[in-house]
Amino acid sequence: MLSIVTLISGRGSNFESIVKTAQKEQWPVKFAGVIANHAAAKGLDFARSQGIPAIIVEHREHATRESFDAALIEQIDALGADLVVLAGFMRILTPGFIRHFQGRLINIHPALLPAFPGLHTHERALEAGVAEHGATVHFVTEGVDEGPIICQASVPVLAGDDAETLGARVLAAEHQIYPRAVKWYLDGRLQIEGNQVKLSPPEAQLIKL
Ligand code: GRF
Repeated sequence: MLSIVTLISGRGSNFESIVKTAQKEQWPVKFAGVIANHAAAKGLDFARSQGIPAIIVEHREHATRESFDAALIEQIDALGADLVVLAGFMRILTPGFIRHFQGRLINIHPALLPAFPGLHTHERALEAGVAEHGATVHFVTEGVDEGPIICQASVPVLAGDDAETLGARVLAAEHQIYPRAVKWYLDGRLQIEGNQVKLSPPEAQLIKL
């Protein structure tokens, strides 16, 4: 049975959607732990309610990113992670961390990458006047919000949208694609070829909602 370790910084709704989908669909998977970079991360409460080890690695207690990431690696390895899921983890990871988990480290970003990497994606999408926005699950490589794309979901931008209404529509899409992408990984269906992810057997990797 494969083990997942999830890293969060806040609410943890994506983590929750993955756990609930796994329960509903009875995935043979172990949620070995959730790690947050501060104690106030709300998602830790959900983890505890499910009996999933909730671990805090306080980034403020580390003088450098390297030392924080070394502490994270130690925890994640001790939990025996086959897959590391970043779900709203708001720290930039060092190249050493990314290399350590290469090919088994995935992230969700609230935009249709390569459009709008970085922060404030909903505001920027509205400002740019795009007709479609969405979310992307991708393998993590050394560039921020780069890396081979596993799955995307697009949602329409509607007249009258503000960052909040658009963000809520995107978040609902995130909750659909992140469990799906994790399951594809667990089922051994993903292969990285250059900067692309091949899914076998093939299935739509872009979902229009
Ligand atoms: C999501 O929008 C995710 O795409 C971004 O941070 C947010 C995390 O939300 N990386 P949650 O903590 O999963 O509710």
